[in-house]
Amino acid sequence: MSADYTQLPLLLRGGTVIDGTGADRFAADVRIEDGRIAAIEPGLASDGAQVIDVARKVVAPGFIDVHTHDDRMVLSAPDALPKISQGVTTVIVGNCGISLAPLVRTGVPPPLNLLGNDYVHPTMAAYAEAVEAARPAVNVAALLGHSTLRVAAMDDPYRPATRDEQAHMVALLREGMAAGATGFSSGVFYAPGAAADIDELAMLAAVAGEAGGVYATHIRQEMDQVIPSLNEAFATARRGNIPIVISHHKCAGSRNWGRTVETIAYIDDARSKQPIGLDAYPYIAGSTVLRSDLIDGVIDVLVTWSAPHPEMSARHLADIAHEWNCTQREACERLQPGGACYFQMREDDVQRVLAYPPTMIGSDGLPHDAHPHPRLWGTFPRVIGHYSRDIGLFSLETAVHKMTALSARRFNLEQRGQIRLGFHADITVFDPRTVADAATFEYPTQPARGIEHVIVNGTLARSHGTDVTQRAGRFLRRRSAIDPRINSLGRNLP
Ligand code: ZN
Ligand code: CU
Repeated sequence: MSADYTQLPLLLRGGTVIDGTGADRFAADVRIEDGRIAAIEPGLASDGAQVIDVARKVVAPGFIDVHTHDDRMVLSAPDALPKISQGVTTVIVGNCGISLAPLVRTGVPPPLNLLGNDYVHPTMAAYAEAVEAARPAVNVAALLGHSTLRVAAMDDPYRPATRDEQAHMVALLREGMAAGATGFSSGVFYAPGAAADIDELAMLAAVAGEAGGVYATHIRQEMDQVIPSLNEAFATARRGNIPIVISHHKCAGSRNWGRTVETIAYIDDARSKQPIGLDAYPYIAGSTVLRSDLIDGVIDVLVTWSAPHPEMSARHLADIAHEWNCTQREACERLQPGGACYFQMREDDVQRVLAYPPTMIGSDGLPHDAHPHPRLWGTFPRVIGHYSRDIGLFSLETAVHKMTALSARRFNLEQRGQIRLGFHADITVFDPRTVADAATFEYPTQPARGIEHVIVNGTLARSHGTDVTQRAGRFLRRRSAIDPRINSLGRNLP
C-alpha cells in the first residue's frame, strides 16, 4: 500500500487538540506521516512536512458516523460530500436491518428500497471489494442487515423462517463476518424483520457474537411499547453473548413525550448486567419510509420522496391531504412508495438522550431521498455548534468524545477515534467559534460551516469547503475474533 503515501507528511501547526477521550484540550502541533499520527507536541519543526496553520482551531479525531444508510452512496457518490463536509471520516453502514449485501435482486420491498432498488452484491466480500474499488472519501465499516438476510434467504420474508431458511441466513452471516463485517443489525420495527421471533434473532446475534461482532438494533417499537422492545433487544443480545447498540434511541408519539426519563433509567440499570451502547441524532423529527401507522393527525409530516408523486416531496402531508380532499392516511397510501420526516419527538427528550454519557452520535441520514432530512448534512456540526457551544448541553470535549473515541471503542474500530501517537490519521480541524449546521428542513442539503480541514488515513481530503481532492477511505475489516484484545474490549465495556 506504499502508493498511498507518496504525499508529503503534514504538520498541523498551532492548534488546540481535543483528543477524543473526553480529556481536556491542550495546545500542540500534530505531525502526520505514512497515514499515521507521528508526533503530538508543541513547537514541532516542519522537517519536510507540508505545514497547515491551524491557530485558534480545534484538531479533533475525524468523526465517526455510527448510524448510516450510506451503503450505496459510498459506491455511487464516493466523494461522500454530505459526510466529509461535516468532518465525518468513517461511516458505519448496514443499520436498521438494511444492508446492501448480501443480496442480488432488483425491486426490493420497503424498507430495503431506502438504499435504492438494485442489489447486486451476493456476498459481503463482494461488497467490501466494491468499496475498495470505489475508494470513497470516507472509511466504511459494515453491518449485515437482518432484513436483507431474510429477503435473500426467503421467498416470503413476512412470515417466520423455516429451519432451512435460518440455516441459509446463518451461512450468509458467517460469510459476512469472515469477510470482515463489524457486526449484525436488525430492524424488527419493519415488516421483513418483524416476522422474526427472538429465537431467530438470538441465533443470528450469536453467530455475529462468536466472530467478535456488535449487534445494532432498531427495536420493535419506539412508542408505547418502548420498554418491552428494549427488553427484547437486551434479552436477544444476552442470549447471543454480544454487545448491543440501541439505534437512534427515542420516545416517539405525543403520548410518550417525556418518557426518556424512564427509558434512560431502564437502560442504565441494564448496563450493569451487559454491554449496551446507544446512538442518537440531534433533531426532533425522525425519517423513514412512508407508513400510515406513523401518522396520527397530531404530528407534522414532511414528505421526503414519493415514487408516484415526485412533485410532492418537500411538502407537508397535511397540505397534500387538504389539496386532495382526503385524510392524511389516505394521502400517505397514495404517495407510496415514498419517505417522510415525522416530527414525533420532543426537545427535552432529544436533549436527555444526547446528554446521556453512553450515547454516541449517528446521523441516520438517508442519502437517496429527494428532499432528505437535514440530519444527512448537519448532524455533527449541530451537536458541536448548537448543542454544545450555543446551549451548553455538554462540553466540547464531551461532544467530540461522543462522535470519536466512544464510537471507535464500541464498534471495535482499531486505532481510530483518538488523536494519539501511532493511531490512523483520521482528523477533523474545525473552528469552535463558527462551526454550525446549515441544513434545514426547508433547505436540507447545505454543507455545514466551520469545518476547516478533513484528513482521512493521513490524506488531506477537503480544505475550507473545497471539493474533495483525494479520496483515501478504506473498508475497515474487523480484526479476527481470536484477537484477545478485541474480545476484552468488546466484552468489558460497561
Ligand atoms: Zn432505524
Ligand atoms: Cu437507520
